[in-house]
Amino acid sequence: MPVNQEDSAAAVACRGLRKVYDGKHGIFRKPSPSVVAVDGLDLTIRRGECFGLLGPNGSGKTTTVEMIEGLLEPTAGEVELLGLRWNRHEGELRERIGVALQETYLPEKLTVAELLTLFRSFYRRPRPLAALLADVELEEKRAAWVGKLSGGQRQRLAIACALVGEPEVLFLDEPTTGLDPQSRRQVWGLVAAYRARGGTVVLTTHYMEEAERLCDRVAIVDHGKLVRLGSPAQLIAALPGAHVVELELERNGATAGLHIDELRRLRSVAEVHLSAEGAWSLAVSEPEAAVAAALALIERTGLTLARLGTRKASLEDVFVALTGRHLRDG
Ligand SMILES: Nc1ncnc2c1ncn2[C@@H]1O[C@H](COP(=O)(O)OP(=O)(O)OP(=O)(O)O)[C@@H](O)[C@H]1O
Ligand SMILES: [Mg+2]
Repeated sequence: MPVNQEDSAAAVACRGLRKVYDGKHGIFRKPSPSVVAVDGLDLTIRRGECFGLLGPNGSGKTTTVEMIEGLLEPTAGEVELLGLRWNRHEGELRERIGVALQETYLPEKLTVAELLTLFRSFYRRPRPLAALLADVELEEKRAAWVGKLSGGQRQRLAIACALVGEPEVLFLDEPTTGLDPQSRRQVWGLVAAYRARGGTVVLTTHYMEEAERLCDRVAIVDHGKLVRLGSPAQLIAALPGAHVVELELERNGATAGLHIDELRRLRSVAEVHLSAEGAWSLAVSEPEAAVAAALALIERTGLTLARLGTRKASLEDVFVALTGRHLRDG
């Protein structure tokens, strides 16, 4: 029985998903408290979409995807994947999904082709080796040892391993963390190509640009709970201002500065945030009017501007507006 009508056609449906990691009570070690990593998540991911889980470190993204991937037992709640359940259809589900973990161990003393051939032997109808190598642009490295690959190449190989079974759903946990911009673009390209073949993608990321570029919808999570769900464009449009004015003042010894209320009263300013580093960001509807008003205020107060910039609001601003913190705090 599907969890509900809408879910029967979904790639993923989870209801009331919860994970508590038990604390340790060793006699010789300091006891550690139990951790509620995922705290009652309801998610429906549609077939064919690229769905992003966004949240800061420790917000429960990996725990969530690993429960959906059938690698972790939920403490409570239900997971349905392609209309199937892990406890009844594990064999079939393993054949129909592909998983790239946040950290993958790949045997160093195999060549790229040998590793992919080994993975291909696990599936009844594996994707051809040449296609896999082309998917991840590793044709030239087919005879290279895995241990000799660069970080970006290794990550692409890990994704190729997830693509071996021609999965209907591909899970990517932080696929581009730590990669240089070029490698990141290559990963984006291979996600786009996989989707063009009709695949569903579930990914986690800290990178807002990545989420805005790749995801049809994102779920913003914090402390294991869903804070907001929608397309990047919808979430950004719901912000009080479509633009952000960022300004920093010279610190002339004295700590005197702008008062948050003065900034709030400026024309077209909807919201004001002061970062821990002392930079102001103003959510504004009309950037030109807000900049002019801010400059006039700074001039009146006798302060010196160190930096001023305007930009379009992004998913990062959505996160800050919802939680008061940046995604990459800490
Ligand atoms: N095996 C475990 N035992 C105990 N606590 C754990 C375990 N795995 C994760 N946690 C805790 O659960 C919480 C959620 O962790 P999780 O790895 O799901 O977060 P995340 O959103 O993927 O973080 P990151 O962005 O750093 O990858 C964290 O507080 C973490 O310390
Ligand atoms: Mg994680």
